[in-house]
Order: sequence, then C-alpha cells, then structure tokens
Amino acid sequence: MNRQNDGPGAPGLIYLDNGATSFPKPDEVYRFMDEFYRRFGVNPGRSGYDLCIESGDLVETTRRQLCAFFGGSDPNRLVFGYNATDALNLAIFGLLEAGDHAVTTHLEHNSSLRPLWHLEQRGVAVDWVDFDGRGYIDPDEVIARLRPHTRAVVINHGSNVIGTVQPVAPIGAACRARGIPLVLDVSQTAGMIPLDVEALGAGVICFTGHKSLMGPMGTGGMYVHESVELRQTRAGGTGVRSAQRHHLEEYPYRMEYGTPNLPGIAGLHAGVKWVQQQGVAAIHRFELDLWRRLRDGLRDIDGVVLHCADDDGSGERISVLSFNVPGLVAADVGTMLDVDHGIACRTGLHCAPMVHEHLGTDRIHGSVRFGLGPLNTAAQVDTAVAAVAEIAALARR
Ligand SMILES: Cc1ncc(COP(=O)(O)O)c(C=O)c1O
Repeated sequence: MNRQNDGPGAPGLIYLDNGATSFPKPDEVYRFMDEFYRRFGVNPGRSGYDLCIESGDLVETTRRQLCAFFGGSDPNRLVFGYNATDALNLAIFGLLEAGDHAVTTHLEHNSSLRPLWHLEQRGVAVDWVDFDGRGYIDPDEVIARLRPHTRAVVINHGSNVIGTVQPVAPIGAACRARGIPLVLDVSQTAGMIPLDVEALGAGVICFTGHKSLMGPMGTGGMYVHESVELRQTRAGGTGVRSAQRHHLEEYPYRMEYGTPNLPGIAGLHAGVKWVQQQGVAAIHRFELDLWRRLRDGLRDIDGVVLHCADDDGSGERISVLSFNVPGLVAADVGTMLDVDHGIACRTGLHCAPMVHEHLGTDRIHGSVRFGLGPLNTAAQVDTAVAAVAEIAALARR
C-alpha cells in the first residue's frame, strides 16, 4: 500500500480501530477537502454563479464515481446522506409499515437493529436468522423465511464484530425473483472487497464514507436499484422547484434533504479515488495478509479466545478480529493496550449486541476488537501480538 501517513495522530500511536473509522486518511483526502472547500465552498447546485456550478459539479462527479464503484447504472439513484445509519433508516422506514414482514440476521449493527425493533413494536413482523459457529448465515435459511408479504430483507454484509462476509448473492437472486428489496449494509465491506449491486442482487446498498472508503465522517448514502421504490419519510429543501408543496419524487432529490455535506463529499471523492488507485482487491489481499499474521500470533497465546477466526478459505472475510483474554473484561484489556502499549482498539459490544448474545460475550461486557486498515504494517501487528501476550501473562498470574 501507498503509506505516506506516519504523521497524523499521537506520536508512536498504533491505530488498530479501523473498524470504527479509518485513521489516518490518505494525505490526498485532507488536502483535497481543504483546497476544495476554501475555493468552492458554496451551496452546491442552488444558484447559477460559477462557484456554485463548480461545487455542484463535484457532487455530481462523486455521485457518478460512487455509482460506478457499486456497479450501478443510474447515478441519480446514488443518493448522499450522512452515514450508514442515516441510509439504513431511510431504507428500512421507507420500505416497511404495519402488516409487513421482514427477514434479518443476528449479525446486524444497531443502525439496522434499532429501526427494526422500533417497527416490530408497530406491527411489522421480523424473522431473525442466526449465524453458525464459523460466523456465517445459511442463505437457504433466509430464503426459506421469505413470505408473500415480505417487504425487505436486511443483511449486514460484513460483520463489524467477527469479520465474516455473508454469502448474499443467492439471497439477492431469490429476493430479486420475488420483487423483495435486499437492503445490504456494506459499512464494513465498501472499499475492502469489490462490490457489484447486480452480482449481489441488492435492492438498496447502504454505505458509510468514513471507514474503508477513506472519506471523512458525516458522509455516506445509498444506491437504490431501479427495481426498488422507497417511500419518503422526510421532506425539505432540494434547491429546485421550490414552489412545489411536496418533496420531489425523482431521484436523487427524492432521498436527499437540505444542504449536502460538501466538504465531506469532497473528502469522500478523494478517498474513493485513492481506493481505486490502490485497487480494492489489492487492499483486501494486503489487509487479509496482516489479519492472518495477527490471527496466528494471537492464536498462539495461551488462553486467548478468538471469535470466529477460522479461515479455511471457504468463506469471505474482512480484517477485523475480536478476542477475549480470560480473567479480564474487554475494557480493561483496551485500557492496558492504550496506556501501557500505545495501541488504540475498540472494546465492548461494538453496537452489535446480538452477536455477543450468540457468542456469550454479552455476559462479560463484550470483546476486544482489532480493526486493520490499509495503512497498518506487519511491524504494528507484531507489536500488538506481543502486547496481548504480555497482558495475558499478567492475567494468568
Ligand atoms: C456493520 C455496520 N453497520 C453500520 C454502521 C454504522 O455506521 P455509521 O456510524 O457511519 O452510520 C457501522 C459502524 O460501525 C457498522 O460497522
């Protein structure tokens, strides 16, 4: 990987919390955000003067860039929001209402779980599919739950806790055949593994910009396939046809509300460009090499429990790894990694409580999670393994 980022962050910090957000970003992202926002930071597409046209052009260029990135065919159906949570809310509330049925999994993040739990209280029936011991759902089990009144299937493509990537293509094909939108949460996989809306059979792809797409926080959105219509659950300014009393029906306005995050979209544009220059497949290969090094190192430490870290090549995965050190709660391990070793990681339930209920780690306040990124190095991984070995030895005393 093109690693030009040893500067930002605390000196000497080893940042292994890329599952939460990628950090640091490639230099190009910081530079382009700053330059673009200084020169063209006016409300995009709202007026006819040159600066406004320039800022609007960047939004449309990024729309086309991301549409192509996800294999979409209509850039207008690539809509910008503020993160994956925002997109998942628009998709889930835009598809389901009382009397409908939905299918989802125990691997979901709270950004899907909470909207679905909310709707369950209001007359939507939800079927929950569990994952197996290796961390994968069985596509046939999801397909078997589809009903005539199923209006959405909601699946987290890549687990932010155990890193398994779900085999969604057969589910997508079954959903497309029945006219059911597959809402795919690609928060963890976009920019990490190649994605194609047609190959996946997705109805709505919900993405966040600040993880492996290398953009800033406050960016994200969705690609809505031509076969899917989302009900509007918000209304507001669009900058066009302002006299109209109802929100515009056509995409992208249909799902965009108010002034967009222009500096964020500029950063996202630069982040996706960087990812495309490196190549998503090359990034995935690089991160999985680091992940195996980390997994093998941690596996050799007496007592350390790794969660769903088998890698026999039969399932896809991303580069997050969760583990526990017996005798210590995850938060204490996180503090020791931070204070004694200068390593930043994530601890707790990672906003995915049902995964922990399945693993039994809900009773011990969750797990420790290392999330690797394209700017990490083998030396950093080795330091992290040595640090966990030291912590585990202390816990055994
Ligand atoms: C699988 C998954 N879904 C959704 C989200 C929510 O992303 P955001 O906080 O950017 O909305 C995350 C972030 O951690 C995630 O890992």
